[in-house]
Amino acid sequence: MTVTIPAPTLAVNQTPNDFTLETYERTAALYIDKSRKPEATPALTEFAASIKKAGSGTRVLEIGSGSGDQADQLAALGLSVTRSDAAQAFIDLLEARGVTAQKLNVVADDLGTSWDGIYANAVFVHLDRAQFAAVLHRSVAALKVGGTLAFTLTKGEGEAWSEVKVDAPRFFCLWT
Ligand SMILES: C[S@@+](CC[C@H](N)C(=O)[O-])C[C@H]1O[C@@H](n2cnc3c(N)ncnc32)[C@H](O)[C@@H]1O
Repeated sequence: MTVTIPAPTLAVNQTPNDFTLETYERTAALYIDKSRKPEATPALTEFAASIKKAGSGTRVLEIGSGSGDQADQLAALGLSVTRSDAAQAFIDLLEARGVTAQKLNVVADDLGTSWDGIYANAVFVHLDRAQFAAVLHRSVAALKVGGTLAFTLTKGEGEAWSEVKVDAPRFFCLWT
């Protein structure tokens, strides 16, 4: 984990995830500039292979698409990807390049049903532990039987706030 900062003051009933989404609304373009993903990662390739191996369909939901780079890679590997993000700023940037994306907050919104796969890279790290547990259950329930849920987290202990990449506070919940 990079340099941490003191926790910002949250508004009444505002969660660290809510605050982080407000940061992304202001900094989405900067985040994309700092986080381009030009090549498929082994985890992404393994996820796509798992969906295709199951053989029951290729309908995949990506949660927290951000730039959409990884959705493009999943599509290039033959999956039918629904892109989504909770921050309207990312949706607008995707739509500006002709890509459709849904506004979907994984904490609050209906995740749909019968997905062959759900993919979330570096998204659940912005949830607190209770939100993460609930989201895991709801994500699994939104899959077809035999579907695949893939997500990445950041390794570490405790929780932290950081201004890395976007020069504004984001919340990170670390996992050992
Ligand atoms: C670190 S970025 C990762 C973006 C992209 N997946 C990538 O790998 O480049 C975290 C993303 O998760 C989204 N996000 C954060 N909280 C979310 C939530 N509750 N529901 C859906 N998306 C969320 C952010 O808007 C942002 O696009």
